[in-house]
Order: sequence, then structure tokens, then C-alpha cells
Amino acid sequence: MANKITRTATGAATTVADWVNARAPALMPMYRKHMTEYYAPKNFNIWYIFGVLATVAIANQIITGIFLTMHFKPSVAEAFGSIEYIMRDVEWGWLIRYMHSTGASLLFVVIYLHMFRGLMYGSYQKPRELVWLLGMVIYLVLMAEAFMGYVLPWGQMSYWGAKVIISLFGAIPVIGTGLTEWIMGDFNPGDATLNRFFALHVIAMPLVLLLLIVLHLGALHEVGSNNPDGVEIKKGPKGNRWSPSAPADGVPFHPYYTVKDTFYVGIFLIIAAFIIFFAPTFGGWFLEHDNFTVANPLVTPAHIKPVWYFTPYYAMLRVIPSFFGIKLWGVIVMFGAIVMLFLVPWLDKSPVKSYRYRGMLSWAMLLMFATCFLWLAKIGAGPGTDPVEAIIGRVLTFLYFAFFITMPVWTKLDRTKPVPERVTMHD
Ligand code: HEM
Repeated sequence: MANKITRTATGAATTVADWVNARAPALMPMYRKHMTEYYAPKNFNIWYIFGVLATVAIANQIITGIFLTMHFKPSVAEAFGSIEYIMRDVEWGWLIRYMHSTGASLLFVVIYLHMFRGLMYGSYQKPRELVWLLGMVIYLVLMAEAFMGYVLPWGQMSYWGAKVIISLFGAIPVIGTGLTEWIMGDFNPGDATLNRFFALHVIAMPLVLLLLIVLHLGALHEVGSNNPDGVEIKKGPKGNRWSPSAPADGVPFHPYYTVKDTFYVGIFLIIAAFIIFFAPTFGGWFLEHDNFTVANPLVTPAHIKPVWYFTPYYAMLRVIPSFFGIKLWGVIVMFGAIVMLFLVPWLDKSPVKSYRYRGMLSWAMLLMFATCFLWLAKIGAGPGTDPVEAIIGRVLTFLYFAFFITMPVWTKLDRTKPVPERVTMHD
């Protein structure tokens, strides 16, 4: 047998698996619990690939990040030059840099689709509230991670983005100014800022993210995956061809979904390669043109704007005027928009999980929410000088919040359809 590669002292052949098992007996049950005996619903559709793609995309960020760190210099004097050096002189440096910078945008594309899937199939409802909450904490940390990473190349937008975003804390009464200086370690973004952002970006945040992802998947595997029908397979009939006690509508995650996921990972990598090779900056959406110019504290760029994945929130910040001389409202609205997403498991009162079995009202609301989010993203990416656009932005912000605040009402009013007992299969 090919896998008999070790021999015991008595001469009896053992496999590598037996050898490991004898020394770490807890590993095999863990592998079975999460892979071969994790019964996932058999009706997963394409929306269920984004969790795996997020894992692949974050692994890419960590691996390419390690190689960038080998050549990057975290100081105001050298940071921009070291990125240019990576792009021009380091062997394959341009590829590693683009895999990281364009990879960040691809990660957010995947994350937004992953979150939208959760909203569409009610994956945040009982018993998966914790999975959703952990996902939301991941989203927050990911945004902090991306923001700090963006500051590191010390281009114009790195500097001015850092200045604008950190200065937001200055709007907090009493402690604002002190807090801003404490975060920057200076009166303006400088060496202290760059050094601490580097430390947080390359080690602290990734460690937290990895831990959160393990908890996210651990919490999911305790309760089991939801599916496009929103039917709890654990509550359904028992017994399949692998085990009499397993849910009848479940298939072992390995090999069934590992094979399916591998196929989609392949497609994702092909698309990612096309973007990285042929349009790495994606017309300025993934890397702004201003960031190819070294930071200059004396010259403000014409339009300061963050990368696309922050622009919906940035638009809210910009369109909310300061009332009674207080500019805190925009900041509150911006953070409030994220808090709303945290609350979804308790705002949704629908007896039905999946939108497949919800009525027109729920669909209309979800469509309105998605439209508001995308439109705000577009407004936030623009120069922000058009007064009509500012009014549209306020209406969109109002509708964004209305989606969440009125959710307990419309999810109750909506006419749902009967949910089948077992999952359904659609080709
Ligand atoms: C780097 C970030 C993330 C990674 C690596 C990740 C990974 C995963 C994986 C592998 C799954 C199982 C496969 C699947 O259902 O797609 C999953 C499920 C899930 N994730 Fe995430 N996730 C991340 C972020 C998020 C975020 C930001 C949210 C939302 C706030 C979220 C909410 C969920 C939910 C609700 C499920 C269960 C879905 C279901 O069973 O229908 N995740 N995640």
C-alpha cells in the first residue's frame, strides 16, 4: 500500500494517519465533525460559494502581505519609494503588490455578496444570530484593516484619507481633539501614525481576523448551515446513505462541497487574474490615481474620497449637514448605518427565513435597500460638489435607515408563502 510509509518497532506497518492518531487522538474527530460528517444542506446554490471565496481572498491577502512586508519601509521618508521599488525592481514585485491591493477590493466584492446572501435567505435568524454577529465584527475589523493598509503607501490619498477619517473623531465633544492626536500620535498624520498603522495592519488585525473567522465557522458548525429554502434540515427527517442519524437532506461537506467549491475557486481565480493582469486599478476604483503621487501635506487633492467599499458610508457622512454648528451628526449617521446591520436578527420578525417564501413587500424593501447602498456608493465616489446630488443622497440615507427601522413592521405585514417541509432542488 502506497501510504504505508512508517514501521513500528515491532515491524507492523502503520499508516501516517494511524501514526498521527496515536499521538493526537483529538484531531480525527475534529476533521470528521467539520468535514466528512458535517452534513450541509444538499440544495446549496451559487450564493453559497462566497464564504469559501472570502477565505481564499483573505489567505491571498496574508500571503502577499508577508512578501510585501519584506520590502516595505514603514517611514514617511521611505514608504512611497519602497512601494515604487517593489513595483519596478523587486522580481515579480508588481504582481505581488497588485495581488494585494486589487485583492483587497476583490475580498470586499466577495464579502458584500456573502452578506447579501445572508440577508436574502434570512441566515441571521434564529439559531444563527451569533454567526451573523461574528460576521459583522469581521466586517468592522476588515474595514479598519483595509483603511490602515491604504495609508501605508503614503500616497496623496493615503495621507489625506487618513487625515479626513481620523479627524472625524475630532467631532466628538470634549475629548475629540485629544482623541484625534492620540490616534495619530501627532498633530497630523506622520511617522508615528505610519508606524502604528503598519504594526496593526501586518500583525494585530490579521490575528484578530483569523480568530474571528475560526469563531464564525465554529458558531456556524454548531447550528448547521442555512440554505436557499431556509428549511432547518436538522429538524427534518433523519437518515441518509452515510448515516442513519444524519439529516436526510444533508450531504457530507467533504467531498461533496469541497469539490464544488474547488471548481468555483478556480473560476474566481481566473476572473481575479484577468483583473490583476489587465485592469489592476480598475479605472481608479480599486487604486485611485492620486495615490500614485507621493503624499504632500501642503497640497490637498481636488477630491478626497476613500476606496469604493467605504463610499456608501462616506456619502452619508458628506450629505448630512451640521445642525446648530455641530458636525457630529454625519459621523453618527455613518456609524449608525453599520450598527443597523448588527441589529437585523432582532428587527426581522418574519416567520419565514428565505425571501423565496416571502411576499412582494419584502422583495421591494430589499431591492430598495440594495439600490440605496449602490447609489450612495456612487455618490460617495464622486466629487460631492453637486447640491442636487446632496439632496438625493439625503433621501437615499433616509430610505437606507427606513429599511431597518421599519423592518419589524413590514416583515410582519408581508404575505408569506408556505415553506416546504423538505429542501427543494432547482437545476
Ligand atoms: C473574511 C470574512 C469572512 C469569511 C472568511 C467568512 C466565511 C464563511 C464561510 C466559509 C461560511 C460557510 C459557507 C457559506 O455559507 O458561504 C460562512 C457562513 C456565513 N457567514 Fe461568513 N465569512 C466572512 C464574513 C462574514 C460577514 C461580514 C458576514 C455578515 C455580517 C457573514 C455572515 C455569515 C452567515 C450568516 C453565514 C451562514 C450562512 C448560511 O448558513 O446561510 N460572514 N462564512
